[in-house]
Amino acid sequence: MSVNKNAVDKCRISDSSLEKFVSYGDMPIANGFLSEGEFKSEYYFPLEVGFCEKSKMVQLITQPDPEIMFHDHYAFFSSLSTSMQKHFKTFADEVKSRFVKNTNQMVMELGCNDGIFLQHFKDYRHLGIEPSLNVAEVSRSKGLNVENRFFGQALAEEIVSKEGQVDLFSASNCMCHIPDFLSVLAGIDVLLSKKGVVVFEDPYMGAVVEKTSYDQFYDEHVFLFSLHSISYAFSLFGMEVFDVAPQVTHGGSMRYYICRKGEHEVSNAVSSLLKNEELQGLDKIDVYLEFAKNCETSKARLVEELSILAKAGKKVAGYGATSKSTTVLNYCKIGPDLISYISDTTPIKIGKFSPGMHIPIRSYEEFKSNYPDVAVLFAWNHQAEIFEKEKVFRDSNGKWLFFVPKVEIV
Ligand code: TMP
Repeated sequence: MSVNKNAVDKCRISDSSLEKFVSYGDMPIANGFLSEGEFKSEYYFPLEVGFCEKSKMVQLITQPDPEIMFHDHYAFFSSLSTSMQKHFKTFADEVKSRFVKNTNQMVMELGCNDGIFLQHFKDYRHLGIEPSLNVAEVSRSKGLNVENRFFGQALAEEIVSKEGQVDLFSASNCMCHIPDFLSVLAGIDVLLSKKGVVVFEDPYMGAVVEKTSYDQFYDEHVFLFSLHSISYAFSLFGMEVFDVAPQVTHGGSMRYYICRKGEHEVSNAVSSLLKNEELQGLDKIDVYLEFAKNCETSKARLVEELSILAKAGKKVAGYGATSKSTTVLNYCKIGPDLISYISDTTPIKIGKFSPGMHIPIRSYEEFKSNYPDVAVLFAWNHQAEIFEKEKVFRDSNGKWLFFVPKVEIV
């Protein structure tokens, strides 16, 4: 294994110093499921996270080039989860009733993936931006207009010259993926109409600290946002957050509503969340140093539980080959000796191996036809949906091993 020296250090949003508070060691690409022949050339980068006192931003210190992560065989398809389908339908309905009431308004989505959200705006003037070709093609097959490009100021200028300005700019689980965040904000500044609204959601730093869900840190999650950091970043472009709404998705996310300063009334939810963040300490380094200690404790406990199960001869499988599981497995050094395989429903992952620790990924049918004694719930953010589906596993005396918010067997 060698660490790729081309990993880039360009994710700072301000020039002030970034204080490292945790290091998870050398990490492969989280969605880089691979075949045996690819083991030798696997790409690694140091996964370290820092906090910027000035911008309040929590961010990776080094990051692989985006082309290594988002390409023509990207392994994440949003629409595979039924609860996410419902989530995006509700989200689209809300946006229609609050901000885009007529189909002549222009709706844009950054990182539209397989069209799970944008499909609800098919009858509107709309545009999706999606750099991963395979998922962009799925969106196109649903009749959506999609540009297969990376977004930034230059593309924004092109779009404005063709389509005019945008009334609604949305992004879900995407903004935190983009190292050159300032270029995205500059692009939004070019695109957004005077009364236009930016609405986006991403995993929330407050939830990560609360649950010690360190698996939210991986190559694609360059930033873990808070209201403090988002307010700072958008204020650089004369914009402000006028509403916020916590979400249960992805293990705890936050939805931010943003406008040009003074164009929409600011809700009380904004001041209340800012206050909560200060109480939680998200605006200071100390809480992150404490978080780093909690990660070490969680790691030791998980390895301990898995070692006890292995010694007892129990069959242990992973459930959900999530991107997040790559951080857990590699940070805790958990390989096929402790978890014999990971079950997943995504066709592109099945038959491959998990990044770094090389645990085989097997089909869901295999899990169902021969239950393990214990299943490690890597897709813990889909727990409700999975528990509903897996009643038979529990009834057959199957046990779940959780590691978020704490390590326990249920
Ligand atoms: P996510 O946590 O990034 O949404 O990824 C979820 C992964 O878990 C994805 O690879 C699909 C897989 N999965 C299953 O295998 N079974 C399930 O029931 C669910 C909800 C997800």
